[in-house]
Amino acid sequence: MKLPHDIQKDFPSLHAMGMRAYLDSAASSLTPVSVLEAMNDYYQNFRSNVHRGMYKTAGEATERYEAVRGIVAKFLNASAPEEIVFTKGTTEALNLLATSLGRTFGPGDEVVLTEMEHHANLVPWQEAAKRHGFVLKYIPITKAYRLDMDAARALITPKTKAVSIAHASNALGTVNPAKELAALAHAIGALFILDAAQSVPHMKVDVRDLDCDFLAFSGHKTYGPTGVGVLYGKKALLEKMEPAQYGGDMIREVKYEASTWNDAPMKFEAGTPNIAGVIGLGAAISYLETIGMDAVEAHDRDLTAYALEKLPAVPGVKIIGPEAGERIGAISFEVAGAHPHDLATIFDREGVAVRGGHHCAMPLMGKLGVTGTCRASFGIYNGKEDVDALVEAIQAARATLKL
Ligand SMILES: Cc1ncc(COP(=O)(O)O)c(C=O)c1O
Repeated sequence: MKLPHDIQKDFPSLHAMGMRAYLDSAASSLTPVSVLEAMNDYYQNFRSNVHRGMYKTAGEATERYEAVRGIVAKFLNASAPEEIVFTKGTTEALNLLATSLGRTFGPGDEVVLTEMEHHANLVPWQEAAKRHGFVLKYIPITKAYRLDMDAARALITPKTKAVSIAHASNALGTVNPAKELAALAHAIGALFILDAAQSVPHMKVDVRDLDCDFLAFSGHKTYGPTGVGVLYGKKALLEKMEPAQYGGDMIREVKYEASTWNDAPMKFEAGTPNIAGVIGLGAAISYLETIGMDAVEAHDRDLTAYALEKLPAVPGVKIIGPEAGERIGAISFEVAGAHPHDLATIFDREGVAVRGGHHCAMPLMGKLGVTGTCRASFGIYNGKEDVDALVEAIQAARATLKL
């Protein structure tokens, strides 16, 4: 399906896990051999801490770690490697923003989110709002599972200090009009933040084209290792921001009385970072670039279109998400009369792995009037045969549950 080679052979866990179809890449993608090799190389050949040691392997570890900033910066089309902060994932990156920026907002200020946010882009803002007295507003979704842009225009006002939205919804698959929202935010001087956990693995994301001020994504959803992620921030903004965590590596000078901070991005990386994880993330991005993000996106689009044709043809199946078009291959659905947890358990017996539940978007589930959904999500290793396996698993579940 428009991919340059047999991708599946690059992913040993596809076979080792013994499943018929792995359809849970929105939760966590699998990892190609080149990523495992890069991390293994670090542990076997230059296993040292970064930024500190005077010996050869410490220098090599630092060089390899810092080189990944350049790889990520190029991948996102950032202006400079200094705009890349390593975190442990999207959640930590968004917490960093809510903590650090939140301190500069106060009573009378507003932060605009959407009704389809993952808890990671909601709870940190709720906590910061409670602490500093600002107010959260939510852009509603329409019946077509897209953002109500008229409502967005009314909600983004001179009181708005930041607009922070999911680029692509993990629960609905919707891709939101980021450029348009960035323009609305910037027109009134607000910051624009993108939770790109679900978009970066599926499409070319260009921070300068989108004009986002900050962007977060996770390594483990992008064919990289767990425990590593990225916060992109415009250099001038990162320089102005206060750190959110304190300790080794983020300092310039420490006295008993007070301390000063290193420059960005180091200012935001307190303590020993996930060195192997960062090196693995670099390998994952290089792997994606070899395939080409255009091919990745085309593959996702084709597979999504196929699934959106096949799944609703099964009696009782309803897609909870937008039609083909501006969406990713994270497809939520319900089967009339069946609980998503029961479905996911029966699918597992059929060798099909999906996610069943609230997808860390409990307010959205409430708004949709459901406790949860089943979600099938695609990675570059999935093919039409995996969608066919899901269709058969749904039929098996309907037979078991006598629907
Ligand atoms: C849209 C979105 N934002 C944030 C997150 C949190 O990512 P992580 O758990 O890697 O920090 C996820 C994970 O599912 C997500 O889908």
